[in-house]
Amino acid sequence: MLNIVIFGAPGSGKGTQSERIVEKYGLDHISTGDVLRGEIAKGTELGNTAKALIDHGQLIPDELMIEILASKLDALTESKGVIFDGFPRTIAQAGALKAMLNERGQDVTAMIELDVPEDELMVRLLKRGQESGRADDNEETIKKRLVVYAQQTAPLKDWYKNDGKHCYINGSGELDRIFADIVEAIESKL
Ligand code: AP5
Ligand code: MG
Repeated sequence: MLNIVIFGAPGSGKGTQSERIVEKYGLDHISTGDVLRGEIAKGTELGNTAKALIDHGQLIPDELMIEILASKLDALTESKGVIFDGFPRTIAQAGALKAMLNERGQDVTAMIELDVPEDELMVRLLKRGQESGRADDNEETIKKRLVVYAQQTAPLKDWYKNDGKHCYINGSGELDRIFADIVEAIESKL
């Protein structure tokens, strides 16, 4: 089982590089942001709760998010492993993920941190906002997302360093070079 956490600030390329990792290793992809946007599109109660928070760049509460993740994990059958995109985002979520995987006799194989300077993140997300219209890709909300990332999510780098899983990747530049670095990092943890 190959379980990869793809990690980084909003716009760092988690979704983009996940597609390539999925293709190379045949993993299942769980993007918690995509799950929540799906619920919003369907107009469910969870979607309504999520929308209010996402539009303000805030995180969905840990308990709710952990429950959602567990149900997604339970739904997978005959999986070769999972790429976790956008989860965990807090220390509580990281502990819960480890416990969930350990219960299944597994663990996180590697945590891949995509590092991109903030000014570049802003440029990427504003561009995507103009092209695809994701509701949280506007300057005000992007700024809030970056603050939430710095305060609540960035501390997970040290958490995963202590767990021996952290891999640093320069997330600026050519997509192919970044992907090659990711593959090298994954292979180093096998
Ligand atoms: P989520 O959907 O996870 O959004 P995010 O973390 O803000 O990240 P993005 O999806 O915006 O960026 P990405 O890193 O995937 O980059 P991408 O590949 O798209 O979460 C959204 C919200 O949901 C959160 O704010 C929160 O409210 C809630 N939520 C989700 N998970 C949660 C959790 N676990 N707990 C609590 N709340 C949760 O790339 C971005 C752009 O850059 C694209 O246009 C792409 O084409 C471009 N790009 C990518 N790579 C490059 C490159 N190398 N050079 C130039 N451009 C590039
Ligand atoms: Mg994404």
